[in-house]
Amino acid sequence: MVIQKERREGAIDNNQKILFERGEIEKRIKELGAQISRDYSGKELFVIGILKGAVIFLSDLVRNIEVPLKIDFMAVSSYGASTKSSGIVRTLKDLDQSVEGRDILIVEDIVDTGLTLKFLCDNLWQRHPKSLKIVTLLDKPDRRVVDIKPDYSGFVIPDHFVVGFGLDHNEYYRHLPHICILNE
Ligand code: PRP
Repeated sequence: MVIQKERREGAIDNNQKILFERGEIEKRIKELGAQISRDYSGKELFVIGILKGAVIFLSDLVRNIEVPLKIDFMAVSSYGASTKSSGIVRTLKDLDQSVEGRDILIVEDIVDTGLTLKFLCDNLWQRHPKSLKIVTLLDKPDRRVVDIKPDYSGFVIPDHFVVGFGLDHNEYYRHLPHICILNE
C-alpha cells in the first residue's frame, strides 16, 4: 500500500518575514541534541517542557538526544501584562512526577525578560533535583530584566516579535515550520 504524504507548509503571508528556515532550525536542534547527549553521557535526563510554546521544539529536540530520558510538562502564566514585569507567575499545570534527585533539563521556546524562567528555576530547586539546566530555542538577551542565562540556546536574536515553531501571536502561528518576524 502506498501511503501518500501530505506536506503541510504553514501559510506565510505578507505579515511574516522568515528569520530562520526549517532546515536551519533542524540543523541547530541536531547540534543541541548532540551536545546535550555528550554532556549527559552515562546519566538519565528529566526533561520538562513549558507549555505551550516549547512543545514543537521539545518534540524535535528529544529525538536528537541519545541518553535515557523522561518527559513531563508544566504550564505557567503571568497574571497579565501589568504584572508580568513584577515577576508574578502562577502554575497552571504542575509536574506529574517527582524530580527529587534527578537531572532536570527545562525546555523553553524563548527566554525574553527571564521572569518565567526565574520563577521556574526557584520553584524547581525547592524540589531538590540533582541538577537543573535550561535549553531554549531562542534567546533575546536584550530584553532581560533578571540575571538568568540559558545553558544551551539555539539562536540569540534581537528584539523582534517572532512567531512559528511553537511561538504564537494570539495563539495563532504556532504550527509554522519556520521562525518568522511578525510585522504588526
Ligand atoms: C512565553 C515563552 C516563555 C515566556 C518567556 O510563554 O514560552 O515561557 O513567554 O517570556 P519571559 O522570559 O519574558 O518570561 P507565554 O506566556 O507566551 O505562553 P506560551 O508558551 O503558551 O505561548
